[in-house]
Amino acid sequence: KENLKIEKTDIVIIGAGLAGLFVALQLKPSFNVTIITKRKLTDSNTEQAQGGIAAAICEKDSPQLHFKDTINAGHGLCNIDVVNEVVNKGPKAIQALLYYGVPFDRQQGQLALTREGAHSRRRVLHASGDGTGRVIRETLTERIKERNNISILEDTFIIDIYTEEGEAKGVFIKGDHGIILLLAKYVVLASGGAGQLFKYTTNPEVATADGIAMAYRAKADVRDMEFVQFHPTALVLPKAPRFLISEAVRGEGAILVNHNGEAFMAKYHESKDLAPRDIVSRAMLEEMEKSNSDYLFLDVSHMTEEKMEGRFPTIYKTCREFGINVPKEPIPVAPAAHYFMGGVVVDKEGKTNIKGLLACGEVTSTGLHGANRLASNSLLEALVFGQNIADYINDNLKGLDNDIKIILPEYKYIFTGPVKPKTIKEEIQELMWKYAGLKRNQRGLITLINRLEQLTKELSVPQDVEDFETINMLQVSLLLAQGALLRTESRGGHFREDYPKADKGWKKHINFNIDKNIFY
Ligand code: SIN
Repeated sequence: KENLKIEKTDIVIIGAGLAGLFVALQLKPSFNVTIITKRKLTDSNTEQAQGGIAAAICEKDSPQLHFKDTINAGHGLCNIDVVNEVVNKGPKAIQALLYYGVPFDRQQGQLALTREGAHSRRRVLHASGDGTGRVIRETLTERIKERNNISILEDTFIIDIYTEEGEAKGVFIKGDHGIILLLAKYVVLASGGAGQLFKYTTNPEVATADGIAMAYRAKADVRDMEFVQFHPTALVLPKAPRFLISEAVRGEGAILVNHNGEAFMAKYHESKDLAPRDIVSRAMLEEMEKSNSDYLFLDVSHMTEEKMEGRFPTIYKTCREFGINVPKEPIPVAPAAHYFMGGVVVDKEGKTNIKGLLACGEVTSTGLHGANRLASNSLLEALVFGQNIADYINDNLKGLDNDIKIILPEYKYIFTGPVKPKTIKEEIQELMWKYAGLKRNQRGLITLINRLEQLTKELSVPQDVEDFETINMLQVSLLLAQGALLRTESRGGHFREDYPKADKGWKKHINFNIDKNIFY
């Protein structure tokens, strides 16, 4: 406590993806807003979003159709009210991005729309072809720089949320020489996803589940941890990262083929290559197992070189850099962890069960995605919930209590072992891929839980950012594995080979709370 440096702001936003940036812009300019990101502004899942952002904006479409597609993809676990809220507010959210100057692609003057899996209409907006997330981030960052009430702290790691008598009142920052307590009237958690829990992921290195872990330690409810979306088409080459090959490539006619050159998806679903992601990924797994291979192919040969380079410039360039002569040559692909449907439970205003703590974006479980997210619904969710959070804070900003008592947290986790946390990061990723990946079973999940619990006991006190990240990964992996073991059925992004069918009795969420443990 003696070495604690104390600073103040009005609102602290954890994370600088679309959710965090948008909340900041929609807050009243009279508030002091501090956005904190653990690396650079370019390090986020938003930055890498290719396909785009879904909204019912064309006359052949409607929020009702968008609603239906979202519900169908979600396998019985979507919250009807929340889905309605998001699809109905979708067009207005797009207007807000246009207002800020996001240059979405156009065709003959109209906003260009592409299709992705499980969408019954073309409704996915994109920018710079497959550079949608980057372009949105660049535009919003420009607008933020024009505002003198918003500051962005890069390379700044938050260890935990500071709560006092059950209310979030700031964050603990890892400083160069000790800890800084940044006090705030509201804490907005927008820290993104957790793809790095798995060996193979489309997510950047920063996606280490920090937000879910710190919210859980702050006694927030988290749920649906077992529902992980595996994107069907990540690039597979020995020395390449699992670079995302956007579903929009299939939306524009590309097809998956097996090692015999057979287009196999018709065997698995009437929507073939544009079936929901969980179905495509599992079909691919079956085909890979049949041919004893760890990849299949995406045939893009229907496109001319000009079309591919123009519409998917990043994918075209990346494939060429790795020696794949697209569009003539097919792209070797396999599923990889992509999106977390589960997360911190919030209501429609983005409020968690902790007073003063709000959350939006991938870190949350709003009820929009159910057991499987509809492609390109996540950027939209970030905007709609980002707006709702800003509206709530704009209407309810309270004064900062000058008499803050600074009650330091008592941790349930005490690290007294010999093992440096960061040294177990790869083991967690390997174990999670093996036992909690596309196919799970009771035996594997028990093995996984036992090993994760043993690792937890062996760790020493965290020293650097990678240590803290690894502890976050370990805690969230355990929650995920426990949820996956409990859910004795298959639904959306959770597949149990020992319980391969959905069970009506499991049409419910598994919730975790550090004090209340597990509740349904
Ligand atoms: C993609 O472009 O395939 C990713 C879109 C998404 O995950 O929503």
